[in-house]
Amino acid sequence: MAEKTNKVTFTKNFIKKITKIKAPDEMLQQAGSGSLEKTLGVWDLIILGVGAIIGSGIFAVVGVAAAGSPDGGVGAGPALAVSMIIAAIACIFSALCYCEFATMIPVAGGAYIYTFATLGEFAAWMVGWVLMLEYAVGFIAVACAWSNHFVQFISGFSQYLPSWMANPPVWLMNDVNSAIKIVKDSGVEDVSTVLPTICGMPISINMPAIIMVILTAMILVKGTKDSTKMTGIMVFIKMAVIALFVIAGAFYVRPENWTPFAPNGFEGIFAGAFLIFFAYIGFDAIATAAEECKNPQKDLPIGIIGSLLITTVVYVLVALVLTGMQPTSGVTVPTDFLKAPMAFAMSAVDKNWFAGLISVGSLAGLTSVLLVMMMASVRILYAMSRDNFISKKFQMLHPKFKTPAYLTWTVCVLAIFGIFFMDLNVAAELCNFGTFTSFIIVCVAVLILRKTEPNRERPFKVPFSPLFPSLGIICCGGLMLYKLQFATSSALLFPLWIIIGLLIYLHYGFIKNRDFENLLHREKVAKKKQEVTK
Ligand code: ALA
Repeated sequence: MAEKTNKVTFTKNFIKKITKIKAPDEMLQQAGSGSLEKTLGVWDLIILGVGAIIGSGIFAVVGVAAAGSPDGGVGAGPALAVSMIIAAIACIFSALCYCEFATMIPVAGGAYIYTFATLGEFAAWMVGWVLMLEYAVGFIAVACAWSNHFVQFISGFSQYLPSWMANPPVWLMNDVNSAIKIVKDSGVEDVSTVLPTICGMPISINMPAIIMVILTAMILVKGTKDSTKMTGIMVFIKMAVIALFVIAGAFYVRPENWTPFAPNGFEGIFAGAFLIFFAYIGFDAIATAAEECKNPQKDLPIGIIGSLLITTVVYVLVALVLTGMQPTSGVTVPTDFLKAPMAFAMSAVDKNWFAGLISVGSLAGLTSVLLVMMMASVRILYAMSRDNFISKKFQMLHPKFKTPAYLTWTVCVLAIFGIFFMDLNVAAELCNFGTFTSFIIVCVAVLILRKTEPNRERPFKVPFSPLFPSLGIICCGGLMLYKLQFATSSALLFPLWIIIGLLIYLHYGFIKNRDFENLLHREKVAKKKQEVTK
């Protein structure tokens, strides 16, 4: 009997601890809310949004979303434009929920912070953990895309560069799985004749991606002064290149390439929507700038929704032109189209100089996304370290630049490790799983906080609640469940990631937080004792 009571008490205590929330006011106080200069207007936010959103999704992933992946995943074909609209709708509902939270709790940390305020410690840890899929694994995907475009770019200078530079060996430009596939596809059965081996195992490293990861870390450690200005220039370059592609490409569209419009039916459209969702990721990063907005109540929702609408229009136009230029159904699509589709489409119509221009635009676009994604990974981990989930050491600042250098280099090393094993598509899909999960949780959190704190001041409210947050949950959940039914690498790795996160929390985060609570308690008791003896 006593044992049973103990068990019940233990379970109750355990649940109480893992659902312990952190009050929004405490977060605001901890982050020193209000101390940042309020300089951002609505246009700055839109530029920031477009800078964070437009990147490898439209410059690279769009190829696989249209034509299917080499591992048998189906593509949407010309119906990619429909997939893009579906993905945009899934984003809009979650974006509105982000606006409500960002204007109410303007603290860096995004979904992680919102979850801590509503669902408690365990859910916050899990969200922080899946956000690493969104930002850190997404960062790996963008770095791989950067490498593909870089290779495409330098190959345009083959007349002027030594051949080892213009056409580098396959094992210096790819992760090991992709390298093996490329070698086998070229008809070579024994890969060891092309790839170097260690103890009989073929090896391959994506050198440009690794160098770019290190450069990004260096820039972030140094601190990015005038980063809005830099982002503005990059946004201008990439938008100009995309606009030129749409206008010039329109002349090479062959309407017969648009039929059949949806060669793989709804399966292709939804698979395309799942994948191309990656192209919209990044708007949530604007939410973290809430503290620096002149008028967050009005500007933040316009900034978030505005940048989403602009990108949707741009994406749909690119999808129509691209699938009009390159047949995507009933043919074997070249690997180069899957890697850098826009540049490939221009080369295919003998506009090599234009392909080079697109590579420059994409490199600029991808660089801005890389910066935002690494910065976001570091910010989330920093917030998690502040909450005792990971070592306090990670809060160590660079003595000169005052940036979280230790954490930035840790993320850099982990990303390099990921680049050894992951290719662009697996990383992008995993990133999507993480982002869908965090969007769903933000929508749930809005509904919960409306119930638990109905009187809290909300400078921006999601319209038609609970309908809109519920639609956000349904759209994101639907696309995620749809993808999970296929046994692709990412659909298998995602549940594994969740289980690993759960185990780390139980064996590390939970214990660390209890140790910290005990420490606070001991300090309190000691202080009281001191007061009594006085
Ligand atoms: N939306 C970002 C991109 O497409 C992640 O690169």
